[in-house]
Amino acid sequence: MKRPIKKAVFPVAGLGTRFLPATKAMPKEMLTVVDRPLIQIVVDEARQAGIEHFIFITGRNKGVIEDHFDKQFELEETLRDRGKSAELSLLEADLPGAGQTSFTRQQRPLGLGHAVWCARDLVGSEPFALLLPDVLVHAEHGCLAQMMETYNDMGGNLVAVEEVPRQHIHRYGIVGVGADHGRAFEITSMVEKPEPEAAPSNLSILGRYILQPEIFGILASQDPGSGGEIQLTDAMIQLLADQPFHGVRFEGQSYDCGDKVGFLTANVAYALSRSDIGPTFRDALREIVSEGDAD
Ligand code: G1P
Repeated sequence: MKRPIKKAVFPVAGLGTRFLPATKAMPKEMLTVVDRPLIQIVVDEARQAGIEHFIFITGRNKGVIEDHFDKQFELEETLRDRGKSAELSLLEADLPGAGQTSFTRQQRPLGLGHAVWCARDLVGSEPFALLLPDVLVHAEHGCLAQMMETYNDMGGNLVAVEEVPRQHIHRYGIVGVGADHGRAFEITSMVEKPEPEAAPSNLSILGRYILQPEIFGILASQDPGSGGEIQLTDAMIQLLADQPFHGVRFEGQSYDCGDKVGFLTANVAYALSRSDIGPTFRDALREIVSEGDAD
């Protein structure tokens, strides 16, 4: 019997320097894809996968994220008074239940591994999911839900992976591929942000993980690695010596929203897929693109 995954960790302490000045006073995780903040979309994915407790690793200037996942009495009263029931039920549907969120601050930007370690007391001694809100996966059946199915078969540690072009290998954690089990395969090695010549494959770690709690003990004494930061991948390499890791090939389209073009592309794709605005937006987009072609 695999221990169920009920808690998810969301590291949201990053500065978002690539999106300045938009992120000067607003967390990058609150940037919107159409009308939903990035962090909301990733929390939706976790909820769809059966997660019941949402742990946010925040930092200074991130208070708005906590407000976003709280009730807004005045707004809700005003919507009620004005008979705006659709908007009201939208807010109610998105609201996590009482006591289902926790927030703790990463006091210094020491890296992803350190951010995850900050969640140790909140997670306790159970396996947990980890979702990086820079990455969106557009899929009918969410990426984490797909990983949960694999977890129920295999247990252990899982990371979602996808192929990346050679010139982007240095941006990601890259895995070595062992025995194949269909959708999942054994991971034999991992390297954080290698040069393409040193990479064991072209399969990148995408930003969705299911990890066993023993990772915290390793992170406690993890030395800084790539970029001078405490890297989660380095701690996973140590855990790989004791526990199985599998890579999961998921169905869906990923968008790296830590990058301007990735973020804009996500906005276009999500807008086009919406039944309310998709058709009108498609026409507007076509017009802009054909004007561009005529120039
Ligand atoms: C982090 C991880 C890396 C992973 C990437 C996915 O890097 O360290 O292994 O491939 O997320 O987005 P970061 O993007 O925080 O530099």
